[in-house]
Amino acid sequence: MRRIAMVFPIFVLAAWAQHAQSDKTKKANPAIGNLTSIAAGAKTFAGGCAVCHGPDGQGGRGPRLAGGNAMWHTLDENQTFDLIRKGVGSGMPGSGLPDEKVWELVAFVKNLRDPAADSVLPGDAKAGSQVFWEKAGCGACHSVAGEGGKLGPDLSNIGAARSVPTLREAIVDPDADGAFGYRPTTVMLMDGRQVRGVLRNFTNYSMQIQDDKGKLYLVDVGEVKDWARGDGSPMPRDYGQKLTKADIDNLIAYLGRLSTRK
Ligand code: HEC
Ligand code: HEC
Repeated sequence: MRRIAMVFPIFVLAAWAQHAQSDKTKKANPAIGNLTSIAAGAKTFAGGCAVCHGPDGQGGRGPRLAGGNAMWHTLDENQTFDLIRKGVGSGMPGSGLPDEKVWELVAFVKNLRDPAADSVLPGDAKAGSQVFWEKAGCGACHSVAGEGGKLGPDLSNIGAARSVPTLREAIVDPDADGAFGYRPTTVMLMDGRQVRGVLRNFTNYSMQIQDDKGKLYLVDVGEVKDWARGDGSPMPRDYGQKLTKADIDNLIAYLGRLSTRK
């Protein structure tokens, strides 16, 4: 009896040590977080994956891979590797690419999904700050750490909350998210006054409108003579044309580092 009791803990220890070691070697794949590998992965993705997952991972026949927000962490790196290697059910074929190419894909997919604050970003944050506050005038509507406009959402934590593709989409295609709570609205009151801003909320009895100074108006529906509401985001729609590709990369580098997380 005694003999068995002694052998058992040694066995458990050995197994534990081996497990700890394989955890360490697992983490070491050099493609993860490497911009060159991510760019190579993007190319492979465009060739073999985009038909189903969309060119920017936005989804199609296959699910969306680009993260919508920071809450969505499904697979870790090794699970993603296995999934790409083996495929899933009848919907997604396995890939016969060499390991190195699959790791590049894993690095690319991870960068699509993670919050921007955890992703590697090709742009220059300092140049992006200039685009934000000067060239593109984003600061007229958005505030960062207490500075800037109040019409649009505060962006002080946007890098921790959104992935890179979601930030890109917000800049070049502001209507993609439906812009709920931010529709531009003009209300004409019975007494001739006008209130303009974004419609933050409304009920059967009242409308809540916020103007571009951040001031909130609570309007009694009984006082409203007429009102007009725009369909999408009040954000300009031509940033994709007005800004260069470098400007947008730099903006994303700037926004991607905005985080209130310690
Ligand atoms: C023929 C269409 C098709 C192709 C090509 C394809 N996928 Fe998929 N992919 C799917 C479908 C469908 C699923 C969902 C499978 C399921 O959950 O049943 C999926 C799931 C995934 C997932 C898991 C998503 C999640 O978190 O649940 C990842 C990651 C992924 N694919 C990456 C890739 C990569 C990388 C490639 C290119 C090598 C690729 N896919 C090629 C259709 C495809
Ligand atoms: C005219 C005001 C205005 C300007 C100028 C403006 N935005 Fe916006 N922005 C908004 C509003 C309102 C929203 C919320 C509705 C929406 O999602 O489109 C928004 C949403 C966003 C979001 C998404 C926020 C989230 O929580 O997901 C990002 C990111 C963003 N803007 C970045 C920018 C950048 C970068 C610029 C400059 C290139 C810019 N905005 C210029 C008004 C503006």
